Amino acid sequence: MPASFLLGLCAGLAFARAHARRDAAKRRNDENDENDENDENDRDGDGDGDGDGERRPVVVYMDGCFDTMHYGHANALRQARACGDKLLVGVVNDEEILRCKGPPVCDARERADAVRACKWVDGVIEDVPYEVTDAFTDELFAKYGVDFVVHGDDPCLAPDGSDAYAYPKRVGKYREIKRTEGVSTTDIVGRLLRLGARAMGEEVEEEEKEATFCTTSSRVAQFLGNNAPPAEDARVVYVHGAFDVFNTGHVEILREAQKLGDFVLVGVHADADVRARRGAAHPVLNEKERALGVLACRYADEVVIGAPAKITNDLLTTFNVSVVVAEDEDPYEIAGEDANAVAAARGLYRRVPRAREWSALSVAARVMENRAAFEARNARKTKSEAAYYAQKTHVKES
Ligand code: CTP
Repeated sequence: MPASFLLGLCAGLAFARAHARRDAAKRRNDENDENDENDENDRDGDGDGDGDGERRPVVVYMDGCFDTMHYGHANALRQARACGDKLLVGVVNDEEILRCKGPPVCDARERADAVRACKWVDGVIEDVPYEVTDAFTDELFAKYGVDFVVHGDDPCLAPDGSDAYAYPKRVGKYREIKRTEGVSTTDIVGRLLRLGARAMGEEVEEEEKEATFCTTSSRVAQFLGNNAPPAEDARVVYVHGAFDVFNTGHVEILREAQKLGDFVLVGVHADADVRARRGAAHPVLNEKERALGVLACRYADEVVIGAPAKITNDLLTTFNVSVVVAEDEDPYEIAGEDANAVAAARGLYRRVPRAREWSALSVAARVMENRAAFEARNARKTKSEAAYYAQKTHVKES
């Protein structure tokens, strides 16, 4: 993560070495496992080294910017959590990101809230430094009881060009997870820049880049995780919408929805419906990407991918819905008809106040306010990402 600003300079070379580094990382992880097993003080073999018979939870730490938190970040957090029993996440502050990478789209509070809402996260440490210094790493070990520092297998250099995670690697406290292909903040900012430009009436060429993210059934299953189906007598709360560029506004409505029942079912509208309602430049993320964003949220139990924009009697009956929730300020009309009319007629419709202003357009407006800086950063990073995709080889996800 640190020194991504250097990435543009040395990305080609660094990405070319990524494959070899992944193999090395796997070997390192295996060696660490062996070391754990061979710890002589760990008489009860529970891995905590004290022999008291009680197994201490393994605490894992991952840090990052988590700007415009996306399903790639969520998948990193999912994999990190699987490296231990408890996941702490360090969220870098705005000043540090501005200094090292350029302006963030979301502020520190929004980024921390988005991370906190992710179902694989047990705790958030706000305001962590961009640079993972030895002193800070020692603090993680001593103060927070961190056992392993985890990062994606993308090049991660300190400002002086050295390996940002050299210290935890040296002491055998580093684990590496596979970075999720095909999605990044750079990519999303690029999509937001195009949306913003179109909203300002500019002619924008269609993106030529091939879509690099393919949603598999196993990825959906991984994101569903341990979510159980609703019990027969569960009060099912249905929330539906585009859920485009998932963020804190969405988190809030799902949190509200959870208070109204036992099971939150989220209808993620089909791309064509979002386009019909909001215009040709929408949605920013496709329905599978949007569904993954929702599924990673701790307040969502299940998603309907490509749900109908207009509630039907059949949908309410099929899913045994007890209440349909919508935000107050969001009159939901399709071709002049209230999309929730059927739910209202059955007495199932509840409106809740909008907690935070958030839409794909409002976040695109933020990007457009700082357009030159985002365009410059994206030009740099898009080049390095393209270099990576041009030379990439297959890497198996663990
Ligand atoms: N990450 C990942 N897959 C992605 C994007 C990020 O696994 N597609 C991981 C990173 O490797 C890191 C964590 O998510 O361990 C936090 O990443 P962050 O610091 O927010 O940013 P970047 O690595 O710059 O990624 P992005 O540009 O998408 O924010």
